[in-house]
Amino acid sequence: MALELGRRRPPRLLLVGREHRALTEVADATGGTALEADLADPAGLTAVAAAGAAADVVVHAAGIGWAGDLATMSAEEARRLLEVDLWAPIELTRAILPGMLARRRGHLVFLGSIAGAVGVPGEATYSAAKAGIGAFAEVVRAETAGRGVGVSTVLPGVVDTPFFTRRGRPYDRRWPRPVPPERVARAVVRAIERNRAEMFVPAWLRLPARLHGAAPPLYGALARRLG
Ligand SMILES: NC(=O)c1ccc[n+]([C@@H]2O[C@H](COP(=O)([O-])OP(=O)(O)OC[C@H]3O[C@@H](n4cnc5c(N)ncnc54)[C@H](OP(=O)(O)O)[C@@H]3O)[C@@H](O)[C@H]2O)c1
Repeated sequence: MALELGRRRPPRLLLVGREHRALTEVADATGGTALEADLADPAGLTAVAAAGAAADVVVHAAGIGWAGDLATMSAEEARRLLEVDLWAPIELTRAILPGMLARRRGHLVFLGSIAGAVGVPGEATYSAAKAGIGAFAEVVRAETAGRGVGVSTVLPGVVDTPFFTRRGRPYDRRWPRPVPPERVARAVVRAIERNRAEMFVPAWLRLPARLHGAAPPLYGALARRLG
């Protein structure tokens, strides 16, 4: 996403993460600034909020997953997931949005997930976090309408990144096929340029999401049948 943003509209990028090597690699490639910070740590959040106070665009992409039956998930694992995937974007928005509104300029992008739109078995807490971020973004968009600040949610399905290995369970389904991360990055840039409220990647994922909302029993029956 940083590479795509850097190519399309040469901004001053602030790159946030914990992995020194990956951060400096992207910083070198984009001319951006690396900020090592743990978004699950209040000190990390404070550092990011301070460094990003004047940002015109914020992409809330950091996220972690967890797979398995909820009954086997520890409180610590659930809390950490919610801190990174839900609390960090809320807290950073709370800190950075007033400046954007004062300048009447800015755009917030939230990385949701199809899991937040339909709920995926084995991913109860992750689905809850992503549903929460979708609801949060929708309300912030309504609250900031006409005030110079855009808000978008990008909802990918399965993306070919280390996400699954890092969560402890590799993606092993034949369908749907993972999309390349560049496709999500392009969707993020398009969402900003066109101030789109919501973008699914791939776009056809909008259909199961809408079916889930309009006819939950039918969606449930189809999901059980298709797996
Ligand atoms: N991959 C998928 O299939 C998929 C599908 C739907 C939605 N998403 C969402 O897309 C977003 C990006 O995921 P990805 O696929 O790129 O996963 P990824 O390859 O595992 O990358 C996760 C990113 O989040 C950062 N991060 C994780 N924990 C952090 C923490 N405590 N503090 C700061 N940064 C942290 C990581 O940086 P460091 O490791 O350097 O900290 C890394 O840049 C996430 O919000 C994810 O939920 C992914």
